[in-house]
Amino acid sequence: MPADNLILVGFMGAGKSVVGRLLAHRLGRCFVETDDMIVAREARSIPEIFRAEGEERFRQLETEALEALTLKSGDVIATGGGLPCREGRMEALRALGTVVWLAGDLADLCERAGRSGDRPMLARRTVEELRALYRAREPFYRRAHIVVDTGGLGPDQVVARVLAALRGTHAERV
Ligand code: S3P
Repeated sequence: MPADNLILVGFMGAGKSVVGRLLAHRLGRCFVETDDMIVAREARSIPEIFRAEGEERFRQLETEALEALTLKSGDVIATGGGLPCREGRMEALRALGTVVWLAGDLADLCERAGRSGDRPMLARRTVEELRALYRAREPFYRRAHIVVDTGGLGPDQVVARVLAALRGTHAERV
């Protein structure tokens, strides 16, 4: 029986943090972000980690955060956009609870993600490179239990969609 966390995955700009926080509030659960776990442990920002030690080191820290998540139960967990996108990661997330992919149109996602300047995976990438990154990641996101299309929706509407989807397919977990 998997732990009963609710795990949000999706590309940068999908709204995982905002929606996750709202969902946790609505469900009376704790909210956890893998990026925050890493920043707290390393005592430096994500751009600093990328600058000083590169992407591979950050991915290794994600693996450690994922291991630490096995101690959680009943939480709402927002993952970094790249966290699910390595072999075995989606399976590990699915074992933690119900995985929800916040999907959306790539142009919208990039526009939203680009509003904050602290995403190293967006920096200096062309539109074509971002498209390739998204294409490479999509098969991983697709392994989520539930897909919610966020296109044209505000955070509250996305929350409503997630809750409706959860009630439909995993009623016992809401
Ligand atoms: C990343 C996404 C970021 C953060 C890091 C790497 C990625 O999280 O984990 O900058 O590889 O897509 P968000 O998805 O919350 O932006």
